[in-house]
Formats: sequence, C-alpha cells, structure tokens
Amino acid sequence: MTQLLEVDGVSVSFDGFKAINNLSFSIGPAELRAVIGPNGAGKTTFMDIVTGKTKPDSGSVLWGARNRSLLKMSESQIARAGVGRKFQRPTVFEDQSVFDNLLMALKKTRGPLGVLFYRPSSEDAGKVRELAGQIGLAGQIDRLSGELSHGQKQWLEIGMLLAQEPRLMLVDEPAAGMTPAEREHTTDLLKRAAASCAVVVVEHDMDFVRRLGCRVTVLHEGSVLAEGSIDHVTSDPQVIDVYLGR
Ligand SMILES: Nc1ncnc2c1ncn2[C@@H]1O[C@H](COP(=O)(O)OP(=O)(O)OP(=O)(O)O)[C@@H](O)[C@H]1O
Ligand SMILES: [Mg+2]
Repeated sequence: MTQLLEVDGVSVSFDGFKAINNLSFSIGPAELRAVIGPNGAGKTTFMDIVTGKTKPDSGSVLWGARNRSLLKMSESQIARAGVGRKFQRPTVFEDQSVFDNLLMALKKTRGPLGVLFYRPSSEDAGKVRELAGQIGLAGQIDRLSGELSHGQKQWLEIGMLLAQEPRLMLVDEPAAGMTPAEREHTTDLLKRAAASCAVVVVEHDMDFVRRLGCRVTVLHEGSVLAEGSIDHVTSDPQVIDVYLGR
C-alpha cells in the first residue's frame, strides 16, 4: 500500500538532547493510529515535525502519492497540503455559535470578519449541519461556543478540523480532562473521522486507546519501541519495562 505519510530516519536534538532519535513511522490513507509512550518520549515533537513547527536535523518526511518533502514546506503550506492538527487546549471562538465556528472553518470561508458579512449558501449551511451531527453537537448548533462543556469544545474543534477536509489529522491527548462518557464519544468521533482521512491520536489513557481498536505505535526515547495491536504492544516485555520502570 502506498503510504500517505512516511517519516524515515528522523532525528532532532534540543541543546544536545535527542528528543527524536532515528524515528521511522508511516501511515496509510484513511488509517487510524494511536501513538503512546511515556512522558518525554517525543510524541508531541513528532507532531511538531510533521506540521513543520520543528525542523529535524536529519531524515526525511514524505507526503502523498508524489512523495513531496514536508521538510521543504512552511507550516501554512503543510496545512494547505492537508495536514490538520488539534492541540490539547480548544481554540474555538467562544463568543460565536457552534454554527458560525464550523462555518468559519469550512475550506473556502475566510475567518471571523468574512463570516460576519457573509450569508452562507444552503450548501455550506448543509455542510455545517452535517459536521455538527458528525461531532454530536447537532442539538447545540445555535449555542454560543463559550457555553459548551470542555468535552463539547474539544469535539467542536475536531469538527473545525474536519471542515477543512484534511487528509491527515494529528490529535494530541484529546481525552485529557474528559468524563468517561465524553471519552467514549470522542473514541466514536475519531473512528468516524478515520473513514474520511488518516488520523493519528496521541493518548495516555490505555482504555481509550483500546477502544479505538487500531494499530498502536509505542514511542520511547524518540524511537519506535513496538508496533501492533494494543494486546501485542502491551504484552511486549520491552514496553512493560518502559511503563513499569526498570
Ligand atoms: N522546544 C524544545 N526545546 C527543548 N526541549 C524540548 C523542546 N520540545 C521538546 N523538548 C524535549 O524533548 C523531549 C520530548 O518531548 P515531547 O514533548 O515530544 O514528549 P511527549 O512524548 O509529547 O511527552 P508528554 O507525554 O509528556 O506530552 C522532552 O524531554 C522535552 O523536554
Ligand atoms: Mg506531548
């Protein structure tokens, strides 16, 4: 299978400390992948590299069927090429409705001012309603985003990412601070999202990762320690050593 993203032999040091050490990782189109690993394993730095925020010292990061190098592209070029990222803290516009937040995020609309003077076409309005349904916020569509719960804001932000029709979505610790019911909803949402684009989820909560039911990559000291099903990686003695501490 042709990969959507192929990271090969990537290393990056911060003040002499190797945060990413000869990392190789690939993901196929519309694949769901969980990335786990102890604190400081390099999970967030990996996302920083793919999105262009951090440039590695060596290695290659290739994208799409034409194997374009993401290392030669700026953060905004990478975003336009179809890599979306969700940060841990939601960044929704709190004084705007769920509808307007999603509308603003649609691929062709232009940001808050554009939306103020813009009457959505019925096609766009339809897309927004579909997205709201997809993230489980159909019933909240006219509410101000600032009134949503923490979990609902996270879903809205995932919806805003989906509105941009990414080909790859990187999601860092989406379930942090969520109630068990919210976590479950988030699992469903990410599984559904993976039907239309590749999704890489970093998460510490093992039950959450298990429910995703996808291939798992374990990072440790900036490299891949193990990869496979959750049962496979959690029974790997090296992984057990890392989690229990040697
Ligand atoms: N900009 C930076 N400058 C210096 N050191 C950094 C920088 N970014 C990351 N690091 C270091 O690189 C290592 C990997 O960090 P990273 O944030 O990628 O880990 P992580 O796997 O996301 O951990 P966590 O589970 O705690 O979020 C850590 O030791 C961190 O302190
Ligand atoms: Mg992190």
